[in-house]
Amino acid sequence: MISAENMQVSATHDVPHLRDDMVQSLQRELDSLEAEGLYRRLRQVDGPQGSRISIDGRKVIHFAGSDYLGLTCHPRLKQAACQATMRYGCGVSAARLISGNHDLYPQLEARLARFKHTEAALLFSTGYQANLSVLSALMDSQDVVFSDALNHASIVDGCRLSRTQIRIFPHNDLAVLERLLERERSARRRLIVVDGLYSMDGDVAPLGEIVGLAERYDCMTMVDDSHSTGVLGETGRGAAEATGVLGRVNIETGSLAKALAGFGGYVVGSRTVIEYLINRARPFIFTCALPPAIPATVIEALTIVEEEPALRQRLWDNTRYMRAGLREIGFNVSPLGTQIIPLIMGEPERAMRFCQELLNRGVFAQGIRYPAVPRGTERIRLTVTASHNTADLDAALTALAETGQALQLI
Ligand SMILES: Cc1ncc(COP(=O)(O)O)c(C=O)c1O
Repeated sequence: MISAENMQVSATHDVPHLRDDMVQSLQRELDSLEAEGLYRRLRQVDGPQGSRISIDGRKVIHFAGSDYLGLTCHPRLKQAACQATMRYGCGVSAARLISGNHDLYPQLEARLARFKHTEAALLFSTGYQANLSVLSALMDSQDVVFSDALNHASIVDGCRLSRTQIRIFPHNDLAVLERLLERERSARRRLIVVDGLYSMDGDVAPLGEIVGLAERYDCMTMVDDSHSTGVLGETGRGAAEATGVLGRVNIETGSLAKALAGFGGYVVGSRTVIEYLINRARPFIFTCALPPAIPATVIEALTIVEEEPALRQRLWDNTRYMRAGLREIGFNVSPLGTQIIPLIMGEPERAMRFCQELLNRGVFAQGIRYPAVPRGTERIRLTVTASHNTADLDAALTALAETGQALQLI
């Protein structure tokens, strides 16, 4: 935690000052963010993650994280992290292609490839970098990417970095996607990219249809499975398993910092794609390998995902309970759906006011604003986990009902 004392120490150091006109131009932009209700402030979290969290010094019920299976503080994961740290140290101080390729990385890659029914896998420092890597390494200006309008920012940024031709189709609109595929037959490489489970809306991409279209139009597919790995599908293998196309998606990416409770990102796909990324993906080549505790933690998390389907069952029981409860108190929420539940507020100020009033009542769910979601669709995003118990869910529903009534939303 940054104490006031530490802050003061750094404030006494000599800091070279920016020119006044520069400071003023930055401040003007910050002022306009504030005026639009889009200014972001960090909240102080201390203590562990879980169904309860300590925010700004106060313990509240937590509905804002992505620890969907509640593994972040699992004793077996903590032990795996400690053992790897004792054996290998805290960091590796080198890129994988220099001297950082300890045996834990290929071990986790083999596990991920097997888990996802693909030939090979590659680890990245973050899920963000995994998306940036695939798109910028594989695609360039001779190529076309067909990208869903609600794809994650890291996909948007990967497309921009690659200088590829980008064709955005409205969210899940397969008719428009097909028209675009028809029109862009002559590009060198063509790739459809979607999120498996949309992080801000909680809906699952229609991968059966998308993969079918890709196969018909001879186009590659890429799915970001950050929010579905460990969660969706009979055995937690993700959105492809849930939609019946396990093993038919060409490239899958994801974050290891959500249900798998670690850190970093992955890409799974054919051996050729993975070899290509090792040779061409700059965010892989020019960065240090992850701390050894990370692959050790994620290997243990995968073992638990495979051994304990009851965790997924609890997540779905909690999700159904929460969705039904929200409908009962008057929120417009589908009874079916995933652990990510958006409550649309429609404007940033209302989303942040709802967030604060809910927090005052002891529940934390983050207000989500542009550019994380399109303007006018600002929302509260609730994330249900396996570690919530019925008392947590009931207390949250009471607080949500009171807040909804106070803001005249229900
Ligand atoms: C859909 C999606 N893709 C990628 C990322 C980036 O993952 P990471 O946090 O590991 O960089 C996130 C979220 O953080 C995400 O929600």
